[in-house]
Amino acid sequence: MSSVDGVCWWRWHCDVPDGRRPVWTGPTGGGRLTSPASYVPGRDVSGSAARPTTLTSADAVRPGPGDPDPGAPYGYEGEIAATLIPVEALQAKIRDLAEAVAADHDSEEPPLLVCVLKGAVMFVTDFARAMPIPTELEFMAVSSYGSATSSSGVVRILKDLDRDITGRRVVIVEDIIDSGLTLSWLLKNLASRGPAAIDVVALLRKPEAVKVEVDVRYVGYDIPTDFVVGYGLDFAERYRDLPFVGLLAEHLYR
Ligand code: IMP
Ligand code: MG
Repeated sequence: MSSVDGVCWWRWHCDVPDGRRPVWTGPTGGGRLTSPASYVPGRDVSGSAARPTTLTSADAVRPGPGDPDPGAPYGYEGEIAATLIPVEALQAKIRDLAEAVAADHDSEEPPLLVCVLKGAVMFVTDFARAMPIPTELEFMAVSSYGSATSSSGVVRILKDLDRDITGRRVVIVEDIIDSGLTLSWLLKNLASRGPAAIDVVALLRKPEAVKVEVDVRYVGYDIPTDFVVGYGLDFAERYRDLPFVGLLAEHLYR
């Protein structure tokens, strides 16, 4: 990991113009970036961040002989080796995440949800609908150069936000943090635009794959390093339409 003394580099490397240099206000393990303009001394920022659920490879349910193929109802027969997070668990987790994020925001200042396309598209639509407070939606598409199953950290903006985020409380909605390279780049990029605060909600994280440590306030699941698909996550643009998270059959990518 490229953190220095456990401190995420992006907190200290955001070049923000006009004295709007971000001030870290969160506790260890938090994930909030606040500009001086919105920082309220003494405000409790420890929040109610949801605890991630840790899953291991043993939690993946592989169909035995005679069991139904989890990919078959969606046209992916023989392509999904196991179900890692079934539909009901995923939806319950999203409700928990939405409550945790809403508890740290208020209706007066609706958070601007920035969905990172394409992987987070299923997540953001369920997440926004589970939020008990109003939210606004923005979309950004980035591409990270790399192989089919790992990113390089060299990021290109394919689609930028449609509006100015100056003074807004932004919540980046991410599908998965693998190496963390894409997210650390994105945080740096958005922080330079003068938002009041930036939080991150990530459905999945692979702690063993992290190369750049990025503090993320809200994480749904910590998962093993296996390549996962479904619920927005793809392999060669396939499987995004599965309503659950599963493990791709190894013969398809090894
Ligand atoms: P990172 O930069 O390595 O953290 O990952 C960036 C992006 O790679 C994620 O937002 C996903 O879109 C994609 N990705 C990483 N791991 C997986 C996976 O297991 N399945 C599908 N996509 C993944
Ligand atoms: Mg993503």
